[in-house]
Formats: sequence, C-alpha cells, structure tokens
Amino acid sequence: MTDASDATHTGDADDAPDVGELTPPDRTLMGPGPSEVHPRVLRAMSTPLVGHLDPSFVEIMNEVQELLRYTFRTDNQWTIPVSGTGSASMEAAIGNLVEPGDTMLVPTNGYFGGRMASMARRAGGEVVEVDAPWGEPLDPVDVEAAFDEHQPDVFGFVHAETSTGVLQPGVPELTSIAHDHDAYVIADCVTSLGGVEMRVDEWDVDVAYSGPQKCLSCPPGASPLTLNDRAMDKVLDREEEPRSWYLDLSLLEGYWGDERAYHHTAPITNVYAIREALRLVAEEGIEARWDRHRAVAGDLKAGFGELGLEMNAPDDYWLPSLNAVRVPDGVDDGAVIDHLLTEYDLEIASGLGALAGDVWRIGCMGYSARAQNVEFLLAALEDALAEQGHVA
Ligand SMILES: Cc1ncc(COP(=O)(O)O)c(C=O)c1O
Repeated sequence: MTDASDATHTGDADDAPDVGELTPPDRTLMGPGPSEVHPRVLRAMSTPLVGHLDPSFVEIMNEVQELLRYTFRTDNQWTIPVSGTGSASMEAAIGNLVEPGDTMLVPTNGYFGGRMASMARRAGGEVVEVDAPWGEPLDPVDVEAAFDEHQPDVFGFVHAETSTGVLQPGVPELTSIAHDHDAYVIADCVTSLGGVEMRVDEWDVDVAYSGPQKCLSCPPGASPLTLNDRAMDKVLDREEEPRSWYLDLSLLEGYWGDERAYHHTAPITNVYAIREALRLVAEEGIEARWDRHRAVAGDLKAGFGELGLEMNAPDDYWLPSLNAVRVPDGVDDGAVIDHLLTEYDLEIASGLGALAGDVWRIGCMGYSARAQNVEFLLAALEDALAEQGHVA
C-alpha cells in the first residue's frame, strides 16, 4: 500500500489511476443470480437517456407497469419497479405494510425468511415464527397453528427459497388461512417471478415482490413490487410514517401514480432494461415460460441423477429455477466451484447459511434456462467431479 503522506496528488491526468478498459470475463451464469442477460436487454441499456419526467419516459413507465401486471398475473393498479435490488422491493413491502406494534409471522425454513424477520423488526414490528426445517416447505397445519397462537397482522412467506431450492406449494391455502385471520400476505417471489407459476390475483396474495436478475434475466436495479388495494389502503392509512423515506410508498405514489411528480431520479437505464426483459416474457407467454423452466431444469435434474448427485429438495417441492444439489461425501464443494470458474468460465454457487458446504446452488433462470447451458454445465460438472475422484 502507498503511504498517502508520500503521494504527490497533482490532479493531472498523468497522476490519475491507470485503469484499463472494462473487459469482464465471458461467464456462463448458472448460479443463484444474476442470470445471463438477453442480448436485447443489453441493447436496450445502451440506448440514450431521456429525463425521468420526460413525456416519453412516462409512457415507458406505463408500459413497464402493464408488463409487470401481466407477469405477476394481477390487475393491481399498484404495480411498480422499485429502484434498487430485490432487497429494496422486499423492504418496500415489509417496511410499509408492517407498522410499529404490528406482528409479522415469518418462516424459519430458509435464509430469506430470516431477512424478512430483520426487516420487520426494523420497521418496529414484533416477529413471530412458523417453523419448518431448511429444505422443506411450510405445512399449512403449522401456519394455521401459528395464526391461532399469535394472531399476526402480516404473514410473509418465501415462494421460491433460493437458499434451499424449495418451492412453496399450496399458496392459495396459505393465503386463505391468513385472510380468515384478517392478516395481510406478503410473498417473496424473487426467484420465481417469470420462471415459476405465480398468480397474484387468483391466489389472493396481497403483496408480492421480486428481483429482475433471476428469471427475468435483467441486471439488478429495478425490482418488481405489487400491492392490492386492501394492502395499499393499510399503507396509506398508517399513523406513523415508514422509517425509510426512499421506500415510502405514499411518497412513491406521487411518481408512479397519476401525478408523475419528482420523488427521486429513476434509474432510467434499468427501467429500459426491465421493459425489454418483460417484453420478452410477454412475447414468449408467461405460461410457456413457466413450462420452459420446468422442461429445461427437468433435463438438468435428470443429468444430476446420472452424475450420481442428489437434490436437496424432495421432488414435490423442487424449484426449477434454483437447483440445490447435495455435495457428495469426500468432494470439496469449493474446489468444484473454482474448477468450473477457472476451466469453464462457468458460475455456480455454494450453499448459504445452514446449508453452507452441503449443497451447490445451480440456477436455471430466464435466458440461462437453455438446453445448451444445461449440456455445458453437466459436462463441466462431470469433469470437475472426476478431478475430485467422484465418478457416477
Ligand atoms: C428469495 C430472495 N429474496 C430476496 C433476495 C434479495 O435480493 P437482492 O440480492 O437482489 O437484494 C434474494 C436474492 O438472492 C432472494 O433470493
């Protein structure tokens, strides 16, 4: 390290840091996100900026909202891309719906239920839990029991748990339990939206949020959020302002609602990007897209079986967009990840939280969910496993 006191910082170009042109490696992205971005989305991101209040941008905002409604399967007026990553749409959902003194019921069966709990506490809420082991979905019987015991105001669940590769089945049953108890439901759809069946209106989900860098194959930066009128009424009737100014939906309403007035400068390029990514969803058709994810990830799962690998999630709860695969005995999970990256420019990820070291997390999302990626990954993984002395 240079001692700052010795440095002569003239400010001349000669004295400026000598950083070369950007040349990131050309990776195949098969981790838990980001997934590969469709070339059309990258092209949309290189188009010139307009102002965030330009009439042409207002039209683009309307189109994005319409496309998001299609993708979420909702007519909710309150459907927007939140500026920021999935955690921003998550915090917008929880931080606005949970008021100080409210009780929020959260799941314990994965990493992101824990994040829900942290956000609910920061919002001034009291957190209660419904238990299920990591690697299993919530059981409606347990959810009902937790409701009877705690009478929560808000219930959050993770539709597609990226840490365990588990899909939560039976969403309508969960939402009906919550509504029988007059509670609001928040669904984390970060790893499901655009890749796995989610029907916000038909399944009676009050609030759903997502991220763009998973099954929508868009760079992170503008994250989908939808609220029905019932949830938005609670948000607009709050006695105390939400703790975040930036994510206060009653203020964001001024920008995304009828007024279209300045709140913050929207990330214009990210809005272009998500518009194009959502156009691709609409062109493919949302149901055809869900089918493609199942089919392509189904081939991937079959290939894992041929390599002698076991899935973390039982078949009934398998999450096509995120395959958590158990690391066989005697195999170094990190060495396999490194081998794939250095020898094949191929990204997969290790386990998170309680599953660290036990699983690999292999995504099959959006533009990455293609037969050629699956064949490439299986061949590369076979080689990496052989390096470790594992043969099927
Ligand atoms: C289920 C789930 N929820 C929330 C998030 C947070 O999203 P982000 O990392 O984009 O902030 C993630 C990210 O992987 C996720 O998988």
